[in-house]
Parts: sequence; C-alpha cells; structure tokens
Amino acid sequence: MNNILTNEEIQQIRAETRGTAKTIHFNNAGSSLPPDVVVDTVTDYIYYEALNGGYETEYTYREELDNTYSLIAKLINSRKDEVAIVENASIGWWLAFNGINFKPGDEIITCEMEYVSNLIGLLHAQKTLGVEFKVIPNDENGNFQLDKFEAAIGPKTKLIAVTHVPSSAGGMIPVIEIGKIARKHNILYLLDACQSVGHVPLDVQQIGCDMLAVTGRKYLRAPRGTGFLFVRKEVQDKLKLFFLDGFTTQWVTETDFKSRDDARRFEVYEKSRALTLGLGKAVEYALNIGVDRIWQRVQYLAGLLREKLNAIEGITVHDFGNQLCGIVTFSVEGLAAVDVKNKLAEKHINVSVAKAVSTLIYMNKNHLGDIVRASVHYYNTEEEIEVLCEVLRGLTTHQSVK
Ligand SMILES: Cc1ncc(COP(=O)(O)O)c(C=O)c1O
Repeated sequence: MNNILTNEEIQQIRAETRGTAKTIHFNNAGSSLPPDVVVDTVTDYIYYEALNGGYETEYTYREELDNTYSLIAKLINSRKDEVAIVENASIGWWLAFNGINFKPGDEIITCEMEYVSNLIGLLHAQKTLGVEFKVIPNDENGNFQLDKFEAAIGPKTKLIAVTHVPSSAGGMIPVIEIGKIARKHNILYLLDACQSVGHVPLDVQQIGCDMLAVTGRKYLRAPRGTGFLFVRKEVQDKLKLFFLDGFTTQWVTETDFKSRDDARRFEVYEKSRALTLGLGKAVEYALNIGVDRIWQRVQYLAGLLREKLNAIEGITVHDFGNQLCGIVTFSVEGLAAVDVKNKLAEKHINVSVAKAVSTLIYMNKNHLGDIVRASVHYYNTEEEIEVLCEVLRGLTTHQSVK
C-alpha cells in the first residue's frame, strides 16, 4: 500500500482548512489549525441548541455524540467503555494519577522528559503521601535507557508515569518497550500522550498502558477544551473517583450508590456537547487520512526542516535521540526565543517558545533555556518550510551584520 500523502491530498486538506490560507502555522504542538468540518460541526451544533434547546439538541444528536467514544476507541484500539471525555490532558492525567491508592514508601518511575504538570503531581504526591519517584535519565545520545529503567523497578514500584512526546523537544520514548517491561513486572502504566495523539500511531493494546491522557487541540486538530482519558477496564475499579454526580453514579437505595461500570464514571455530567462532537469529527478526520500516513508525512517534514535549519549558520537544532517526532526545537544565535517568535509572527508565521520549565529536568540537563519550537503537521508544505527558513536566514544575517 502506498502510504505517502499525495500532493493532491495535501492540497485538498489545505482547502478544507481555512487557516492555511492566512497563516503559516508551525505551532501544532500548541494548538493545530482545525479542519473546517470540525469548526462547522461545533458552530452548527451551538446554533441548533440556540434554536431548539440544549437537552432537545442532545437528544437529536445522541447517536453522533455517542459515536465520539467509538471513534476514539478506534483511534487508540481500545474498547469504547474504556474512554472518558475530559477537558484536557492535565485533567485526564490527574484523574488517573490521583485515583491511585498510594501508600507511603510507594515508588513511581518517570522519564526526564516528563511534562511540568505531571512532575508537579509527582512532587505533590511525594510531599503529601510520602511516595518517592525516580527519574530515568536519557543516555548521552538522548535515548531513553530501557536497561536503567528495568533496573530501577523494585518491590515498591507502584506506577510508571511517562510522557510519550515531550513539550519542548523533538525526541520520543519507546512506549511499547516500556509497556512490555511494565507488564512483565505487573506495574501500573500511565502514559501522557498529549503531544503524540494524532501525530504518532497509538495502540493501547500494543503499548500495554493502563491509562492514557490526551488533549484534543494539538495534533488531533480538535477544538480547545477537549481531551480524553483511556482507562483499561480491569483498572477502572482500582481508581478512586473525585467527582460523583447523578450521571457517573447511580443511587442503588436511599443509602447506597454505585458507579457506572465504564470509564465515563471519570466524567461529570455537564460538559460541552458541541465540543464533544467537534472532538469526534477531528478524530474521524484523522482516521480517514490514516494516522500511519500522518506520522510518515510529519516525520518527513520535520526531517526536512531540521536539515534546512542545520544548514543555516547561527542556528542550532536541539533535538536529540534516534526517534524524532514533529516537534523541532532550535535557537538563533544572539536572539531570545521570544524575539524569534515575534519576528516570525510579523510575517504571519506561527512558532512558539518551548519554555524550559515545561520539561525542566531535560532542559536543565541539556543546559537549555527557552528555545524556539516549530512543530510541523501533515498539512504544512515544503514551501512553508522554505519561507520559514528564508525569514530565519534574514534574522541570522541581521545578527552577524550587527
Ligand atoms: C507533554 C504534555 N503533556 C501534557 C500537557 C498538558 O496538556 P493540556 O494543556 O491539554 O492539559 C502538555 C501541554 O502542552 C504537554 O505538552
């Protein structure tokens, strides 16, 4: 099968994405440009609500709303009853993490590229519950060390909590191999797939994770304020619940209640149905293209961008490791990352600043402060990459003239 996205397909996809006509968008790791069908789905739904009433609209759209769970399950190869729709990856991660019944002395293993909010969660658990956590450092080439990871597992290891694709770097960790080790030692495995979903193929059976937290607005191209949490069926009863309402929990008698027997027990009743539908459309859009094909195109474009950046004097690319993703990080000699971002914005080119605090352990270890992050998606083009590099060449020339 030919897996390459053709030029015709790229042009079609761009024609279906209003934003590409206006902006050169390399901030997909922040928030992607959504397909028009996603935007229209959300706005149409809100208009329908305005004309017909919220509950009545929900009834009309009940099958489509429910289908969002099936689409997500298809995307990650899970069961539908293992999916909870939540507002963002942080909520998903916190629901999973804080649901675990930690005891003082329990140990957690994480990676050096773990996301800031998760690290804060680990520190918080250390301070309040007396758990300990170990950080597995990458090797000198930027690769996760599976041998060190397995050696760190002991009788007190309760959880492996790692981030698939970090916020501020182009590297990745081997989530499938980590999963095999987690299974072998029978340890809970929580994966932050916030940056990888919609970008890298995710199969929870293959990965073997028990919990997976995801956001919608990044590579999935869904609206802001959407995300989901996968919790493996066998693990659901082991997690404590934080919010109990009449939707997630049913009265059994006047003195007893029972939680739903699916992952929707982690949700709350009131949420935006319009956004749920938009999330479903975005997932469907990615599935129609094929995540394998998306991943292939993203790797190709990111590789091209790194190659061009490496050829510009005064630019240093900071991505390490054997397996790189769509996030490309670099710095421009003599210019703060925020200034590079602002100069590019003047030309309608969006990049972002990868803040050192977002992935603090990794950034400190590599002596990196804030750096520029250009994250490519499949709808970006070679021409856009050239325009970005041309502007950057101008910035570096300007620096050397000074
Ligand atoms: C790796 C990673 N994990 C988690 C998050 C948090 O995601 P959200 O803002 O959707 O809660 C981010 C946000 O940038 C991230 O990059």
